[in-house]
Amino acid sequence: MYRELRATACAALVLIGMAGCASQPPESDSLYQALGEQAGINRVVEALLYRIADDVRIAHHFADTDIARLQEKLQEQFCVEAGGPCEYTGDSMADVHAGFDLTEADFNALVEDLIAAMEAERLPVTVQNRLLQRLAPMRADIIYR
Ligand code: HEM
Repeated sequence: MYRELRATACAALVLIGMAGCASQPPESDSLYQALGEQAGINRVVEALLYRIADDVRIAHHFADTDIARLQEKLQEQFCVEAGGPCEYTGDSMADVHAGFDLTEADFNALVEDLIAAMEAERLPVTVQNRLLQRLAPMRADIIYR
């Protein structure tokens, strides 16, 4: 949103012949920075995994999962999605969730757990929403597979 507003403001300034809009938004504006870089992302992922483990709606799906691998892949994935200096080395969302036949309710439960994890980390709602917006398009690759 900020970037869009900023782009709009810059376009307006260019239209009226003013300079000063050539630079990119400052590094501190990136979602990666706002999440607290890798350490902050790792705390969110850890809190998410604890909440999933306690969530009777969805915990059973993870009964046979290598949680250490899941933790590592989520850390990488959230970093990449936040614009951080990472590489995602996990499998595709379609492949990894295939055969689980996850529902919208499952997906919503995990999103609720993620929001609770981000709340516990005292991340601003605007920052929470920016991460959720990055993950939301994956939904179609995750449910009913
Ligand atoms: C935005 C939502 C989601 C994201 C970003 C996401 C992301 C991931 C990632 C990165 C992995 C690891 C990939 C790998 O090992 O290569 C994974 C695995 C897994 N996810 Fe998700 N996931 C989401 C939703 C869900 C939901 C809703 C469920 C079930 C309620 C779920 C259940 C699982 C399970 C069980 C595994 C491990 C599969 C296995 O052990 O083979 N995921 N997910």
